[in-house]
Amino acid sequence: MKLEIKSLRVRLNGKDVLKDITLSLDSGLTVIIGENSSGKTTLLKTMAGLVKPSAGEVLVDGKSIHQLHARERARLIGYCWQNPYHGFFEENVKREIEFILKNTGVNGRKDYVEILGVEKLFNKNPFKLSGGEARRVSIASVVVADQPIVLMDEPFNDMDLDGYRSLRKLVEIFKKEKKIIVIALNNAMMMEALSPDLIVLLRGGNVVKVGKPGEIGEKEFEENNIVTRRALIESPESNY
Ligand SMILES: Nc1ncnc2c1ncn2[C@@H]1O[C@H](COP(=O)(O)OP(=O)(O)OP(=O)(O)O)[C@@H](O)[C@H]1O
Ligand SMILES: [Mg+2]
Repeated sequence: MKLEIKSLRVRLNGKDVLKDITLSLDSGLTVIIGENSSGKTTLLKTMAGLVKPSAGEVLVDGKSIHQLHARERARLIGYCWQNPYHGFFEENVKREIEFILKNTGVNGRKDYVEILGVEKLFNKNPFKLSGGEARRVSIASVVVADQPIVLMDEPFNDMDLDGYRSLRKLVEIFKKEKKIIVIALNNAMMMEALSPDLIVLLRGGNVVKVGKPGEIGEKEFEENNIVTRRALIESPESNY
């Protein structure tokens, strides 16, 4: 499977949020990394069909995802929200997980839900979950439908070590299953830890650079306002 983004532009409320994005993604893990407001979330939402481009297109195996019926698109692409509470609307977690299965008519991957440790939360109200619990439920309620394309927006936010390991394990399984996985991050250390197949550096709605791990140096990340290991451990005085 191939996901292609061709000359994509997105204009929201008079602002050019994505300017001219062209990318070609194969199965495996792509990390989209960029400073705050660089356009990561808008790009992922457009790839998921939640935002309409003002020009250009998003193609899966040559077919525009914006032309697909909603149900077909939901089977093909899963988008995990940056704000996990945005995806919730059911009264308990179990119904939240089951919703997408009813909607898409697929059997679902209970093993993914198990890896994320969500079953013990089934009777809880999604809106009353802690931040880390909500993150796990939010991801589980999307990926349970086993889409071949999974887009995750800052999925490690709020996660404790156990959550981090669970999600890492899930990403490794997705890789083995040859899914196209796209993760938006604003931190180069997290990116490094994930050993992505491809890194896309975004700034001001443009792709600054596309590379493999090692092809974009710490200096280049820092110049683009990305937290690196080196920047994190330096003393605050050195910047003032
Ligand atoms: N609906 C909208 N209307 C107008 N401007 C918007 C809208 N949505 C996003 N933007 C603007 O587009 C820019 C990119 O936003 P986006 O959420 O895609 O950035 P991001 O890279 O995900 O940032 P962060 O790291 O903070 O999550 C920001 O300047 C934001 O204010
Ligand atoms: Mg974002």
